[in-house]
Amino acid sequence: ESIVVVLGTRPEIIKFAPVIRECLARDVPFTLVHTGQHYSRELDRVFFEQLDLPAPDVHLDVGSDSHGRQTAAMLEGIEDVLVDVEPDVVLVQGDTNSTLAGALAAAKLNVDVGHVEAGLRSFDREMPEETNRVVVDHVAEYLFTPTEETRLYLEREGVAGQVVVTGNTVVDAVYQYADVAAEKSTVLDDLELSPGEFCLLTAHRAENVDHPDRFRSLLAGVAQFADLTGHEVVYPIHPRAQSRLDEFGVDVPDEIRVIDPLDFLDFLRLESTAALAFTDSGGVQEECCILGTPCVTLRYTTERPETVYVGANCLAGLDPADVVAAGSLMLGKQPDWTIPFGDGRAAERILDALTEVETDTDTAAAT
Ligand code: UD1
Ligand code: UDP
Repeated sequence: ESIVVVLGTRPEIIKFAPVIRECLARDVPFTLVHTGQHYSRELDRVFFEQLDLPAPDVHLDVGSDSHGRQTAAMLEGIEDVLVDVEPDVVLVQGDTNSTLAGALAAAKLNVDVGHVEAGLRSFDREMPEETNRVVVDHVAEYLFTPTEETRLYLEREGVAGQVVVTGNTVVDAVYQYADVAAEKSTVLDDLELSPGEFCLLTAHRAENVDHPDRFRSLLAGVAQFADLTGHEVVYPIHPRAQSRLDEFGVDVPDEIRVIDPLDFLDFLRLESTAALAFTDSGGVQEECCILGTPCVTLRYTTERPETVYVGANCLAGLDPADVVAAGSLMLGKQPDWTIPFGDGRAAERILDALTEVETDTDTAAAT
């Protein structure tokens, strides 16, 4: 099989890293295409360096723009690469505009699409990511799902491709790096934080931070929780959120310490030592569940309901009273839940499926 891997944002780099390493380990040739959707060093290059990934073979440098213009620029660039390389399969991951562009460009050239992290649904069409997920799943030939539940969603929708339950590659990434983070990261000392005595916050979803009232409400709830419990809150801020704060003139309450985005090891270290995480990120909901840190999700829906079912996550929404209540419910919760996203061998199963080796998918989702 000749493979083209298309990626463009921070979570795609992190969740594709185990797949790329598996390709390298098996001597499976691949062409790595970076769309350039993320380009700031701390959202991009830092992960290539830390996760020891090869530099992209092709960099499209599309940068930030409206959804249509950004996706169009990617489509044009990816199509050229595919015509040139003539791959058997194009791998995309997740639900970003880069994922959509990679899948559409391939499907239009009749090249098989493999969707890593297929089948997630928030059932909220206000999210740009939901559109991307649905479209990509319906043009994909291989749908690599994290759980049995996501497989059922896909069957119900009647997707045309072949569904393989592999587990989520985020488990592979966390298992490969959590110990390294504990050993090497000095972030706790650098920020003068003690394990268990602080909370972590991330918020970057367009439907939250692009609306000044919603963003204010989210920050107010977390600040009230911090006041009530005496926990400091650390917020490694996504550039989108920072630019919205600047644009709206929203002040972050004093209880919340805003810092620059962190690299993967420092972020993993904070996630695994925080008393609690408040987040609207998809990846952070999963990683907290894997690392045993209770999570409060600052949204009304989640495409990761497994985290809620196992008791690792609480969907709070944005109302401050609800955020405080959810925080109080989750704080101190014993992390005795099972990890629903597989056993850390998702990348192996994906490569097995692509190279048509017998797979044992039975143990993929440890539910
Ligand atoms: C994108 C994804 C989102 C994902 C997130 C991961 C889509 C529709 N959204 O959101 O699903 O959760 O990445 O982090 O694909 N910016 C920078 N530097 C960068 C990149 C962006 O400063 O390297 C700023 C720019 O002001 C830009 C804004 O962030 O306008 C938004 O960037 P964009 O890539 O459009 O979406 P994200 O919010 O990053
Ligand atoms: N992450 C990181 N540094 C940070 C914040 C997040 O390395 O300061 C990592 C985190 O470990 C997870 C991924 O980025 O693997 C989540 O990405 P993000 O929240 O941007 O996107 P989403 O998962 O919501 O699409």
